[in-house]
Amino acid sequence: MCGIVGYIGCQNAIDVLLDGLSHLEYRGYDSAGVALMGENKINIHKALGKLCNLIEDLKKKDPKEIKSHAGIGHIRWATHGLPTLANAHPHSCNCKGLTLVHNGIIENYQEIKNFLTEKGVTFTSQTDTEVAAHLIAYEYGKTKDLIQAVSNATKKLKGAWAFCVMHKNEPDSIVATRKNAPLLIGKGNGENFLASDIVAIIKYTKKAIYLEDNQIAKITKDTISIYNEDLILTENKVESLPFEPVALSKMGYKHFMLKEINEQPDVIRNILQGKIKDEFSKVNLPDVNLDKKQIEKINRIQIIACGTSFHAGLVGKYIIEELTNIPVEVETSSEYIYRKTIADEKTLVIGISQSGETADTITAIKQVKEKNAHVLIITNRKESLLARLSDSLLHINAGIEVSVAATKSYIAQLVSIYLLAIYMAEKKDEKEEKLQTIKHELLMLPAKIEAVLSNSKKIQEIAKKYSSYKNFIFIARGINYPSALEGALKLKEISYINATGYAAGELKHGPIAMLDETMPVLAILNKGMVYDKVMSNCEEAYARRAKLIGVANNIDDKHKTIFDDIILIPDIDDSVSPALNITVCQLLAYFIAEYLGKDVDQPRNLAKSVTVE
Ligand code: G6P
Repeated sequence: MCGIVGYIGCQNAIDVLLDGLSHLEYRGYDSAGVALMGENKINIHKALGKLCNLIEDLKKKDPKEIKSHAGIGHIRWATHGLPTLANAHPHSCNCKGLTLVHNGIIENYQEIKNFLTEKGVTFTSQTDTEVAAHLIAYEYGKTKDLIQAVSNATKKLKGAWAFCVMHKNEPDSIVATRKNAPLLIGKGNGENFLASDIVAIIKYTKKAIYLEDNQIAKITKDTISIYNEDLILTENKVESLPFEPVALSKMGYKHFMLKEINEQPDVIRNILQGKIKDEFSKVNLPDVNLDKKQIEKINRIQIIACGTSFHAGLVGKYIIEELTNIPVEVETSSEYIYRKTIADEKTLVIGISQSGETADTITAIKQVKEKNAHVLIITNRKESLLARLSDSLLHINAGIEVSVAATKSYIAQLVSIYLLAIYMAEKKDEKEEKLQTIKHELLMLPAKIEAVLSNSKKIQEIAKKYSSYKNFIFIARGINYPSALEGALKLKEISYINATGYAAGELKHGPIAMLDETMPVLAILNKGMVYDKVMSNCEEAYARRAKLIGVANNIDDKHKTIFDDIILIPDIDDSVSPALNITVCQLLAYFIAEYLGKDVDQPRNLAKSVTVE
């Protein structure tokens, strides 16, 4: 959350900053701001709301006023302080000589604020960030050296940060540092860049340097100097950025979310390529460093993740336990980190994260690494902080996901988890027949999702019918229980309808009290082990006059009449069905939100990467 970008070089900084920020907007849209190095002063421009508001404001300015060789920019996802102009970044010290942008949270900001207030500093915002600007300026007053001042100040801070700092006395450089928040340097030719994510700079350079925690960098247009926390010059590897065509065009779709849902078949084909040849060949996972002996030693698996990735982890529990006989626990990262960490060298810990930079998941993974557990990361960003902490990596390779609500990355996580479960079972010589069925289903999955996508019109009609309801319940059982949770989450995220997912068997233990004709219930009922059980729960809902939507590959004639609407999906083995069922739920959520005129790709209050606890 929050996106930061910095530029120094021969281009007009504002163009690079605004372009970079446009690719970072998924990290927050409460406000946007830039600071541009001027003649013996720094010029700041901020606007509330989305980046387009700042762009509109800047259009009214004299181009000479915003021409600069160096600048820093920010888009905000509010943590401390309301989304107001005063709280928008960049923040400056009282004399306006120093200005900075920040991503993260300064936990001890109140203590530092008290100290600085006593020194005569006045504060103009409610943010934790402003404290850092004043503290670095205070240290600069003593040292007259920005690197030294940043080093002295950050030693006094607690929390997480990525900072880009400029001082009017050092107009030809930008200083940057990070701790527990992402920041990288883009190395150019006669120009250099800073960004919290490669998407902001990949258009300009393919070379990046990743800063480690507590390192401080000083970039000029021609040089990059990196210091460790004792201010000793160090050298970091220059890495090549993946040459990914940054799919930032909607390709004719109204929203990125719809485009990304429609990309799902190709995403799956991409993942499977080189990993499964046919149902009779073994799965090949080159970056999973677990051989037969190590897998046989594992007596416990913990899956740690947040949000949609957590739901993928829940599917993982069902399939990994089924295929490997190893007990699996799944937990949200934010809960995992505040209790005793029970893991050892016989534990396999799987961290799932689309972005690879979710703060809680990073903290959890750092904790289990101390216990010598084998850490396997499933992520869409193989250059991310989490990927760097891994012993084994499963890159889901879904391509850049722009829509804040995760869709194609979820499907890609599911498929990666299936591959992992099969890989482990094969090493343990378990359940050959079942493995063949699942491999066959995975190979057929893209075509089956295409069949669901071709039924979009019907789902759109059903969406329209239900868009005026204020509440929704999703029910399912077994391996599709997570589909109910994820389906409800999608609807909630983008339409703001109060939707909850339940294990169908739990309906009668409380939620049934809410059922009447104002409450639609979407039931996922694949023909499999739990079909009859979920059908009984549907009967119970019908008896309470709830509106019933069935998502299934077949519904018996005798039951058809209890449903108000039925969405049929192709026949599929129960174990792989979550990938099909969720495609229906994604489309339903999309069309409801679209029908209600919501901001589908950038829903209120949400950010795609949550880099604060
Ligand atoms: C945010 C996003 C969700 C995402 C979650 C976990 O809340 O809005 O879509 O599922 O973070 O993110 P991760 O990158 O770790 O998968």
